[in-house]
Amino acid sequence: MNRIIVKTQDGNVKISRHIYGHFSEHLGRCIYGGFWVGNDADTAAVIPNTQGVRNDVVAALRHIKIPNLRWPGGCFADEYHWKEGIGVRQDRPKMINTHWGGVTEDNSFGTHEFLELCEQLRCEPYICGNVGSGTVQELSQWVEYCNFDGVSPMAELRRKNGRIKPWKVRYWGIGNESWGCGGSMTPEFYADNYRRYATYARNYGDAQLYKIASGSNGTDLNWTRVLMEKASRHMDGLSLHYYTVPGDWAKKGAATEFSEAEWYITMRKAAHMDELMRKHGSIMDEFDPKRRVGMVIDEWGTWFDVEPGTNPGFLYQQNSLRDALVAGLHFNIFNNYAERVSMTNIAQTINVLQSVILTEGLKMILTPTYHVFDLYKVHQDAMKLPVYVESEASGDLPAVSASASEDSDGWLHVSLTNIDVKQEQEVKVELRGLTLSPSIKAKGRIVTAETMTAHNTFDKPDTVTVKDYSGVSVSGGGLAVTLPPMSVVTLDLA
Ligand code: AHR
Repeated sequence: MNRIIVKTQDGNVKISRHIYGHFSEHLGRCIYGGFWVGNDADTAAVIPNTQGVRNDVVAALRHIKIPNLRWPGGCFADEYHWKEGIGVRQDRPKMINTHWGGVTEDNSFGTHEFLELCEQLRCEPYICGNVGSGTVQELSQWVEYCNFDGVSPMAELRRKNGRIKPWKVRYWGIGNESWGCGGSMTPEFYADNYRRYATYARNYGDAQLYKIASGSNGTDLNWTRVLMEKASRHMDGLSLHYYTVPGDWAKKGAATEFSEAEWYITMRKAAHMDELMRKHGSIMDEFDPKRRVGMVIDEWGTWFDVEPGTNPGFLYQQNSLRDALVAGLHFNIFNNYAERVSMTNIAQTINVLQSVILTEGLKMILTPTYHVFDLYKVHQDAMKLPVYVESEASGDLPAVSASASEDSDGWLHVSLTNIDVKQEQEVKVELRGLTLSPSIKAKGRIVTAETMTAHNTFDKPDTVTVKDYSGVSVSGGGLAVTLPPMSVVTLDLA
């Protein structure tokens, strides 16, 4: 028997809605072919779009209440020169996307197109600036271009390009993976550079910036220590990247063909996020005990071998029930660290790595990961309720994980995962501080399937979806829950 205690009276930390954020890079078919149809007149004529942005994609992402979108990279960000992506589209210079397939980037999707996309999505933009190959002036001017309302060279240029009012972009990344593709810097060198670049990224009027320093690769605790010691005063957030890779980087494993052993390896690696957050978090606590600086996990998700026959530089992978469980595990961890984590961004929204959407020409499908975002959207900006979990073992891992919140309308939400491939789990949920009357109806929704490798295809788009869940009842003043094998559930109680 599994036991979960939810401390219903102890909710005093908000789960930032930005924990449910996204990341979209100029990589493969994420921007071009995913969001954007603007380039190709033939495609644009066929795929319904608004100013070049696919309508189906916008509707799907609004449904899960996408709170923010990080762009233009990733590694691409530190090669991107934003001035090449403004003005008349046909006149924009072309460049090589050296990181991702060596393809030609024609810069047709630039600052205006990205910010138009965010307005359509009703989400906050998060722009990652170029520190690796760009200048302090370039980043400073990008902020001025986006945010300044008065008379200035960049504000005039923006107006000339058709946008009168500033967008007031709040979230700015100061470089990406500066220890690697973003410039191969030492933490000391980057910390000094962070301070330089961040100094000239100005606040204009009420457009107060939230500046995010490039963080560790996951394992490098020293990076976090040096950054916190030398630059935490100047930052609002410090990032951390961690990918769930079942194999090694040379042979990561396939997205939809894997053994039970690989399922559990994947779960173990996903659960490792908890340890990373604890370790990096405790270093952050040493320098910032009041937790002013947010932990920003602006890249996370599964990374498998690309689908056979696709460009290895495009990182296109399918998405199965296994990805859904990885997402559920991550969200429970993130919710439970709400004191420190201010934002996370799954890599990447469409057609790249652990996508929530896949597209093929006119067609669009939602992945199992999308449906988990749908289940967890109720936690956005709700008060975190501390949970205590006593779980049965599934191999050497706990079978059950959980997180809980109370929203501003007084609803309680409890999310649960069962990673076990074969065993259902009986869970007794005690809502400490509340006694439920037997007449209360608990409702829930579930993402599950019969097989580990179940996934959605363009021919069968609804193999894994969200369904109503009836495996919960009020019992002994709490809840009795039966979690099927390989399931993610969210319960809602008025
Ligand atoms: O998401 C793919 C790549 O992974 C990003 O560009 C980079 O930041 C990370 O290494």
